[in-house]
Amino acid sequence: MISEMASNILSMLLASMALSLLPTGSAEEQDLSLGYYSKTCPNAEAIVFEEAAKVIKVAPSLAGPLLRLHFHDCFVRGCDGSVLLNSTKGNVAEKDAYPNLSLRGYGVIDRVKAKLEKTCPGVVSCADILALVARDVVVLSKGPYWPVPTGRRDGFVSMANETKQLPPFTANITTLISVFASKGLSVKDLVVLSGGHTIGISHCSSFNDRLYNFTGKATPTDIDPTLDKYYLAKLRTICKPNDAVTFVEMDPGSFRTFDTGYYKLVAKSRGVFHSDEALLQHPLTKAYVLSHAGASESEFFKDFGDSMINMGNVGVLTGSAGEVRKKCAVVN
Ligand SMILES: *[C@@H]1O[C@H](CO)[C@@H](O)[C@H](O)[C@H]1NC(C)=O
Ligand SMILES: *[C@@H]1O[C@H](CO)[C@@H](O)[C@H](O)[C@H]1NC(C)=O
Ligand SMILES: *[C@@H]1O[C@H](CO)[C@@H](O)[C@H](O)[C@H]1NC(C)=O
Ligand SMILES: *[C@@H]1O[C@H](CO)[C@@H](O)[C@H](O)[C@H]1NC(C)=O
Ligand SMILES: *[C@@H]1O[C@H](CO)[C@@H](O)[C@H](O)[C@H]1NC(C)=O
Repeated sequence: MISEMASNILSMLLASMALSLLPTGSAEEQDLSLGYYSKTCPNAEAIVFEEAAKVIKVAPSLAGPLLRLHFHDCFVRGCDGSVLLNSTKGNVAEKDAYPNLSLRGYGVIDRVKAKLEKTCPGVVSCADILALVARDVVVLSKGPYWPVPTGRRDGFVSMANETKQLPPFTANITTLISVFASKGLSVKDLVVLSGGHTIGISHCSSFNDRLYNFTGKATPTDIDPTLDKYYLAKLRTICKPNDAVTFVEMDPGSFRTFDTGYYKLVAKSRGVFHSDEALLQHPLTKAYVLSHAGASESEFFKDFGDSMINMGNVGVLTGSAGEVRKKCAVVN
């Protein structure tokens, strides 16, 4: 199974390397490119995939968090590996800010990085590792493959207060659209990338207000009226008020499989986050949700790859900007 996937990936890699021979922008612009490491570390992508496959085989629940790490990285200061930096004396890093609750998998990135450092020291950036691992965990969850442009460099700065730039899970559609627009991402990117909630889990604390305390009155009827009544009752049996430890599957029944299950749920008003429900509040996002709730996976898969590539371009450092960290948690 894994080896079959590995060989598929390899043939796709070869195809993407051929693409990278095409001219890509001027030297000054220093765009990301496909197969950026084909000369300096030819096995880089294969090594990343092999390590990701080992991890997902023993810990499939890490797929969601590893996808989220790239997302959190890109939305704060661009895709520059800032999410991986440890706090230092006098500086609280992104890692230690409130939204870190849903983040796991730092150890996996460190492990991939250590493997790469053995083969080609100082070559592959942590920001690129995040982008490649995000793609690979989706592939390993039976989702789409997309060619990942690389050549990102790692930043020097990580500040906890900048995680305010992340779209909050309590956000309404207006806020979601404007947060995405502030990163150069479209309304379509928003609804497509939200589909990533097809894998992974959510802590009750991220949506408990919808079940028990929607307007701050905390009365038995203080619920989010947009949440499906049957689903609300079910979630209340799992999540207790002020529950900080329990979690639920975001796409129950197929939370380890990358599919269109998320859109089926949201179409029935069963998305756990307010920001999931919000997708029904705008004509474009609503149309996408409804049309993909019943449709085959192929169009969503193509869209997801395209939107991940868009997101992976946000605020990247290239050329001589930044550095290639030796260890992802600390600057050199
Ligand atoms: C998340 O941040 C809090 C501080 O807000 C910190 O106490 C906690 O250790 C962090 N958790 C992780 C997993 O880094
Ligand atoms: C974050 O804090 C730093 C100082 O610690 C400050 O310079 C910066 O303006 C703050 N950024 C935001 C987005 O609040
Ligand atoms: C959306 O949320 C923002 C920030 O909380 C708020 O200012 C705005 O009024 C809300 N918009 C709508 C249409 O509810
Ligand atoms: C309900 O929410 C309000 C404000 O959002 C908060 O002040 C209050 O403590 C919450 N009550 C309970 C019982 O969680
Ligand atoms: C980063 O912080 C974690 C948690 O505190 C620690 O285990 C790890 O050793 C640190 N990494 C480096 C390279 O200092």
